[in-house]
Amino acid sequence: MSGDGHLLPIASNADVVAVRRQVRALAVDVGLSLVDQTKVVTAASELARNALVYAGGGRASIEIVENGVRKGLRLSFIDEGPGIPDLALALTDGWTTGSGLGLGLGGSRRLVDEFDLISAPGKGTTVTVTKWAR
Ligand SMILES: Nc1ncnc2c1ncn2[C@@H]1O[C@H](COP(=O)(O)OP(=O)(O)O)[C@@H](O)[C@H]1O
Ligand SMILES: [Mg+2]
Repeated sequence: MSGDGHLLPIASNADVVAVRRQVRALAVDVGLSLVDQTKVVTAASELARNALVYAGGGRASIEIVENGVRKGLRLSFIDEGPGIPDLALALTDGWTTGSGLGLGLGGSRRLVDEFDLISAPGKGTTVTVTKWAR
């Protein structure tokens, strides 16, 4: 992680709120538009909540990235929970094993520019998303 990185625990609802706040602050710093700030904060909220609900907690890594032209925000949500057996199914809108709407993963993917989901049963889950400033 670069010097711009932040690592935050996800162990409670209050932690999810803290992640949201930190993502919002850094989204402002990298110059994301108000609409894009809200998109990335919404994605962060869904992914942090998934780590809390389905894995009993995890951590969020938040870093500012640059590709030579643009700045962006890259977020990883990492847990050591049960993992996801079928990634395509988990990304299907409306599919849930919980009491949610089943829109968190698919919705988050649509709200960001890059989306990477790594998970396997017994190996935990890592979701990494990037939002670039325009
Ligand atoms: N971090 C995770 N660990 C284990 N399973 C997960 C995780 N995130 C998502 N899932 C699985 O993927 C399903 C879909 O997640 P999501 O799209 O956020 O909808 P919802 O949270 O409303 O169920 C969840 O019901 C759960 O079975
Ligand atoms: Mg969810």
